[in-house]
Amino acid sequence: MDLFEYQARDVFEKYGVPVLRGIVARSPQEARAAAEQLGGGTVVVKAQVKTGGRGKAGGVKLAHSPDEAAARAEEILGLDIKGHVVQTLMIAEGAKIAEEFYFSLLLDRANRSLLAMASVEGGMEIEQLAVERPEALAKVQVDPRTGIDAAKAAEIVAAAGFDASIADEVAAVLVKLGEVYRGEDATLVEVNPLVRTEDGAIVALDGKVTLDDNAAFRHPEHAALEDAAATDPLEAKAKENDLNYVKLDGSVGVIGNGAGLVMSTLDVVAYAGEKHGGVKPANFLDIGGGASAAVMAAGLDVILGDEQVRSVFVNVFGGITACDEVANGIVQALATLGDAANKPLVVRLDGNNVEEGRRILAEANHPLVTLAETMDGGADKAAELANAAA
Ligand SMILES: Nc1ncnc2c1ncn2[C@@H]1O[C@H](COP(=O)(O)OP(=O)(O)OP(=O)(O)O)[C@@H](O)[C@H]1O
Ligand SMILES: [Mg+2]
Repeated sequence: MDLFEYQARDVFEKYGVPVLRGIVARSPQEARAAAEQLGGGTVVVKAQVKTGGRGKAGGVKLAHSPDEAAARAEEILGLDIKGHVVQTLMIAEGAKIAEEFYFSLLLDRANRSLLAMASVEGGMEIEQLAVERPEALAKVQVDPRTGIDAAKAAEIVAAAGFDASIADEVAAVLVKLGEVYRGEDATLVEVNPLVRTEDGAIVALDGKVTLDDNAAFRHPEHAALEDAAATDPLEAKAKENDLNYVKLDGSVGVIGNGAGLVMSTLDVVAYAGEKHGGVKPANFLDIGGGASAAVMAAGLDVILGDEQVRSVFVNVFGGITACDEVANGIVQALATLGDAANKPLVVRLDGNNVEEGRRILAEANHPLVTLAETMDGGADKAAELANAAA
């Protein structure tokens, strides 16, 4: 899970990483009040979206008074930054920046290690720097068992070429950022910019933290950081019904049982789509072993709620759950959904009790349902229908 900047700021503060005060605001009025609370001086109005490049997109603006903070908030709220609509702001105390640096600590899976990166040329051009002058970005391996101790911090600071006058202070901040990484079970802790202010303090002005979802069981407190509003509404609905669903970009809805079968179904649909206007799968949805009517209805409901979907391919292999049960599930699901079921369904059943399953579907003779004999044939038909409806 990625954290918002304001959440990362709070986590940093908890570990003693120097940060400035910041207050969350969701309207121009709240932005004005926050600026007043921060003393009425210069603040920075910052879009809270889980993507980079906010500053360049106009999502980070200075304001010299509470009124100006409200005006900047008005401009930034609702802004679309790389597909993320700004709903939340952080009003941050303004810093007088003398220098901007870069630091990150991340999981380096390939080397079974952590990797620290640091540069004395931080700020909004860091991606460009990494490409054009990689030597200006120091990379230091960090043993996950020891993390960033004083010696490792000194090594990183030296490799990046920090000035001797601030080396110790920066190193102390890196040790604390290492503690954030370990203590919170993160896979990424990034600070860009880490700054030296005009009065000589080292401060983290922007933070990105990714938490390791596999360690969530060790952090019940992390659940509160989850941003329900930002997750896709269809994914949220699927989660409520315990369905394994991932929204994709195409127009052919896919339902299957078993992750392996669903993944190969996605491949087959994408392949078939090449002959039908380039249509692609709209989602991954695994309804699991017990493909009961209720589960089938919940799955269909999620998929049909996706406006991009033009056709649905139901690809089920009857194993423990026999095909006749699945067929009954589909018939009942369509009855339950009634008028909400409004897109063509291609159904391919195979395996345990397939004859009976096909008989049930044929008998029901639902106008939206087409039966397919094979997986390839079903994918082709579903792609054709999606393309025709586009
Ligand atoms: N509190 C602050 N006071 C003064 N200047 C700030 C403050 N916060 C940010 N800035 C300036 O704005 C620039 C962009 O801010 P920030 O790093 O938070 O956003 P960003 O880099 O565009 O976002 P992202 O890291 O998501 O790409 C910083 O490099 C810094 O120069
Ligand atoms: Mg930044």
